Amino acid sequence: MSQQVILTETVDRVGVIRLNRPDALNALNADLMYAVVEAAEAFQDDPNVMAIVLTGSEKAFAAGADIKEMSEKSYIDMQQSDWFSHWNRLSDIRLPIIAAVNGYALGGGCELAMIADMIIAGPKTKFGQPEINLGVIPGMGGSQRLTRAIGKAKAMDLVLTGRMIGGEEAERAGLVARLVADDEVFDTAMEVGKTIAAKSRPVVMIAKEAVDAAFETTLEQGLLFERRTFHALFALEDQKEGMDAFANKREAQFKDR
Ligand code: HXC
Repeated sequence: MSQQVILTETVDRVGVIRLNRPDALNALNADLMYAVVEAAEAFQDDPNVMAIVLTGSEKAFAAGADIKEMSEKSYIDMQQSDWFSHWNRLSDIRLPIIAAVNGYALGGGCELAMIADMIIAGPKTKFGQPEINLGVIPGMGGSQRLTRAIGKAKAMDLVLTGRMIGGEEAERAGLVARLVADDEVFDTAMEVGKTIAAKSRPVVMIAKEAVDAAFETTLEQGLLFERRTFHALFALEDQKEGMDAFANKREAQFKDR
């Protein structure tokens, strides 16, 4: 049997997806792309899973799209298969996705990390969009999500020169949510996942939607969306539980309803 391109497990209501093509530094080929998307959708369909941690290996989160798989393709192959559009299914996942990133996160690897809702990285993590060196440009968000995350100046620097930045620079630039010691990256991501797992599942999903709306709307529309959604949460038992628990100085026990 061929090697599994990802490994999955569930730990304390956190679904873990580990990219597993060590010989190719977790390069993102089609098999891996479909496997990640399907695993994330399966976690979402499981009401016991509250958050997803997406990770790779110590040497590479992912060194990019699989160059060997792509190199001989023609324009029409790419256009007709709408290559990379399947990653949109990952950005449609409603559970929070935490990327635990060690080693290389290059090209599609950096873009995959940016599809996640939060990036945890270490000082030795290397982010970059080196597609320019291959005669192409980023293809799954490197010109769009990266620019929104770190602004035009640094996005232009990375996309036009292909230079890599370390975890510290990435954290200063706003790409990384938490910078921790390299050997604590995965455990920290799991702690974040477990913290989220103690909340209300519908409220977690709605909180993610509200933050994401900031990238898609005007401020006025976004504030209205937030306010109306906030009002709607008063229909939930979990809102009553959360506020009652605060008033009575006890831990909230959410029922996800
Ligand atoms: C296919 C890859 C790969 C990739 C590494 N490998 N990256 N295979 N696609 N993106 C393979 C190598 O060919 C090699 O296989 C093995 O992994 C180990 O890599 P080495 O180069 O020997 O390792 P090292 O010397 O440590 O260098 C690490 C590296 C380098 C700096 C990360 O591998 C590298 O530059 N990789 C390409 C990075 C890149 O350009 N990424 C962007 C891809 S384009 P063998 O069989 O020789 O042992 C892209 C487009 C995005 O992502 C568009 C949307 C997704």
